Amino acid sequence: MALVSAKEMLEKAREGKYAVGQFNINNLEWTKSILQTAQELNSPVILGVSEGAGKYMTGFKTVSAMVKAMIEELKITVPVALHLDHGTYEGCYKCIEAGFSSIMFDGSHFPIEENIAKTKELVEICAQKGMSLEAEVGSIGGEEDGVIGRGECAEPEECKKIADLGVTMLAAGIGNIHGKYPADWAGLSFETLEAVKNKVGKMPLVLHGGTGIPTDMIKKAISLGVAKINVNTECQLAFQEATRKYIEDGKDLQGKGFDPRKLLAPGSQAIKDTVKEKMEIFGSINKA
Ligand code: 13P
Repeated sequence: MALVSAKEMLEKAREGKYAVGQFNINNLEWTKSILQTAQELNSPVILGVSEGAGKYMTGFKTVSAMVKAMIEELKITVPVALHLDHGTYEGCYKCIEAGFSSIMFDGSHFPIEENIAKTKELVEICAQKGMSLEAEVGSIGGEEDGVIGRGECAEPEECKKIADLGVTMLAAGIGNIHGKYPADWAGLSFETLEAVKNKVGKMPLVLHGGTGIPTDMIKKAISLGVAKINVNTECQLAFQEATRKYIEDGKDLQGKGFDPRKLLAPGSQAIKDTVKEKMEIFGSINKA
């Protein structure tokens, strides 16, 4: 199946009260593990690509070609969207050109008027190309920004302004942050989520920073309109832990244990297990 926009899968999820996972990819192993798990579980899936990961994989064109070829070679039939995560204005154009099926324009750091003007422009282009567009209101903090503790909460009125521009899905900050949550994290702000939902109606909402959010909070967020949940760090940690164990157990020193296909196998399996666990919690299994 060719890449699809995330629009239909997210509208179905919003309606059916489950969420589709966006799992960020870093290389071939990541991509393969996520696609195979989605196919095995008959779940729709969104492959997220950050600007940094795109650069690491030598550019968005390489990513797009790899994902499209892999879908064909692995005979993947579940819906797959290839999505730019936290895109800059320039990055969005590069991904449109490279053949992505979905983009996120992270204009949260622009003054609201500029965010609106740039989002409007991208809404039109995405509509012409049949792509989905995610916008962000209220920046989502994280370790990389030096923000510790509670992430920012979006202003519901601002969310409505951006949603009304015709974006496909909206990421609103509700106290979530990227990376591991600190021990004294106050949790998600459901008051904010509810207020945003009441302003934007049926628009699918996006929860970033999916790593480490307790299951009960995830389920409550889904009941309040979240239809897309982003997970990145958790797959990285699972990969790291399994790879560390392989080496600590001295397996790389046994026979052909140095072969990258063997060395990377436990980490790849750990990514699959993590994706499966998330898809179970999100409720997207058998929703392809
Ligand atoms: P985590 O790394 O915390 O899972 O967040 C992922 C994310 O939100 C990507 O946009």
